[in-house]
Formats: sequence, C-alpha cells, structure tokens
Amino acid sequence: MQVLNGEMPWRRPVWFMRQAGRYLDEYRATRARAGSFLDLCYNPELAAEVTLQPIRRFDVDAAILFADILLLPQMMGVDLRFQQGEGPRLQPVRDMNAAENLKAAQAAGDLAPVYETVRILRRELPDHVSLIGFCGAPWTVATYIVEGGGSPERLRTRFAALNGEPWLDVIIDRLVEASAAYLAEQARAGAQALMIFDTWAGDLPDGLREKYIFQPVARIIEALRAKGIDAPVIGFARGIGPAQPDFARSTAVAAIGCEANMPVDYMRKVLAPEIVVQGNLDPLAVIAGGEVLEQGVQRLLTLPKERHIFNLGHGFRPDTPVEHVQRMMDLIRAEDESQDV
Ligand code: CP3
Repeated sequence: MQVLNGEMPWRRPVWFMRQAGRYLDEYRATRARAGSFLDLCYNPELAAEVTLQPIRRFDVDAAILFADILLLPQMMGVDLRFQQGEGPRLQPVRDMNAAENLKAAQAAGDLAPVYETVRILRRELPDHVSLIGFCGAPWTVATYIVEGGGSPERLRTRFAALNGEPWLDVIIDRLVEASAAYLAEQARAGAQALMIFDTWAGDLPDGLREKYIFQPVARIIEALRAKGIDAPVIGFARGIGPAQPDFARSTAVAAIGCEANMPVDYMRKVLAPEIVVQGNLDPLAVIAGGEVLEQGVQRLLTLPKERHIFNLGHGFRPDTPVEHVQRMMDLIRAEDESQDV
C-alpha cells in the first residue's frame, strides 16, 4: 500500500499471482473438502482458508482474495462449469440477443459469498499484509464468454473486435457496469487495493487497444471513484509491451503488472519513472530454480524499491516446487536485511 500510495516502503513489497493454488498440498486438500473449484470459490470460510495458506508459509506483503474472474459472468447469467483438468466451459454469447440477455445490474449483488470471504480475511490477516480484491478486465472476460471457454487463439473474439460487432460492445458495456459494482463491493468489504486482470490484452493490434482495453478499464476506475471508492488499482494488461505507458495514462491505474517477457531494463528506465511496476519473474524460472532463479530475482532487485512490487509475470504453475518459492523469498528478503545492518 505504501508503494501504491507513492511512499517509500519499509521493505520491498512482494506477493505472487496464484500464490494460493495447486502447487500447495494444503490447497489441494481444502479444494477436495469443498468438493470442486467453484464450491471452494463460493464457500467463504474455505476460500478465506486457501487465501491464508500461502501467508502462513511465506512472509509476503499481500494476500489476494481467492475467487475467479469468471464468477461475475456466471452471475450475469452465463452458464459456467470447470471441467477437471480442462479449464472453464461457458455458454457462448455471440449475437445481440444473447448479449442483451446478460444481466449487469444485479450480478454484483449476487456475489455476497465473495464479500463475506473479504470480511473474514480482513479480520484474520495480520495488519501489515494488504488485501487485494480483483476482477477480470472486460476484454478478457469477453473472450471467455465469446469463445465459451479457454481457446488457443481466441479468434472469434478478435475478429468480432476487428469487425466492430455491435454485440461485442454490448458485452463490454455490461461487463464494465457489473465489474465496477463488484469491485466497489469488495472494497467496501475490506479490500485495500484492486487488481484488474487483462490476460488477453495482447490480442489486439494498435488502434483497437484504446476501445477494447484502455477505455473499459478507465470506465471501471471512473465508476469506482464516482461511487466514492478510492482504493488504488493495479492494471495487468498482459502482453501489450511498449503500449504500457499509454495504458497507464489512459486509465489512471496506480500500478501496472508487467508480463514475464518485459525487459527489466525497460521497466527501470521507461516505466518506473512514470508509474509503479509490478512483476515480472518468469514463473518457469521458479520451477527451474538454481542460477536462473537467483539471477532473475537479482535483476528485479535493481528496480527502485519505492516503484516496484515484486511478483511473477504470470501465476505460479501447479508443478512449482514449494522449496523454490521459499528460496525466492529468501533472496528477496536478503536485500532488506543487508541494508538494515
Ligand atoms: O491469484 C490468486 O491466487 C487469486 C485467485 C485467482 C484465481 N484465478 C484462482 C484460480 C485469480 C486472481 C484468478 C484470475 C483468473 N482466472 C484469470 C486472470 C489471471 C490469469 O491467470 O491470467 C483467468 C484468465 C482466470 C480464468 C481461469 N480460472 C482459468 C482459465 C482457469 C483454468 C486454468 C487453470 O489454471 O486451471 C481457472 C482456474 C483457477 N482459478 C484455479 C485457481 C487457483 C485452478 C483451479 C483448480 O484446479 O484448483
């Protein structure tokens, strides 16, 4: 929170995307107790429990609410299932009629279990651990809605954007409205910072980013401010590379999440002078361990502490060795310890 507010932090802040997840035995045990991934997301006690598991293991500075970006479209009326080992399956929306059936107004109100998870977490978390709420960005959530799930190239959605399909505009507008209400409720329940995940932002060419990536995120933040929510927002427009400064300026995010292939030199020289950067260790480097991990961490420690939130460039993979995560934490914390003496 100090870095997001433009202050010098007491130490370099660190947290990890997917820090609660399948690489932890205790996560898999709790998910089994819940029944399924979605049952886990909608069970406030167990969702809070898995959020806290990595906090007990590692000395991280933030917890991210355990939920999923696809809960919101589910409450907007899109049928959702998670197939074991296959990822999400949704009822596709690909025409005006289906788009106009998406419910925006009451969707956020139907996510009460998520706000209960946030309230439990704010009670249980140590004071120095910040709580991050989140939603998916309209473009990324739209790709799941249009494709009907994950898809290697997301061609239907990208062509819908290239062709300026009016039904895609309706989907995006409904998502903007519902997402703003959803994030506002998370903040009211106790989330201190909010992150907007635009995993597929890199799918669009110059000229279309403004309409489908920047504006929807900007409108969500404007709506939050109009509702009196002042929590800082972290924008993760994955894969847009040198368009990050444009994203930062057009949306008024407080920080940008950087993908793993963003050069650290570019983050230090071009991005950090303008905006707080979060990221961007390659999740594969954590699996590899050894020299690769050490060098990757050291490279990121060259970023100014008051402008950087240590994280991965994308989430932990399930095959990540827990000892490597601990090793990474030790390497990061060694910086602050060496400066204390
Ligand atoms: O980061 C965290 O620890 C917070 C919780 C969180 C999850 N998903 C839990 C989850 C967050 C912030 C997300 C965001 C999310 N969900 C994104 C954007 C970030 C990204 O990863 O790019 C996306 C695209 C989704 C949609 C989604 N959820 C997919 C495509 C999948 C299947 C792929 C997979 O990893 O299995 C999920 C499932 C999911 N969401 C899991 C977790 C821990 C794995 C579920 C399980 O098997 O237990």
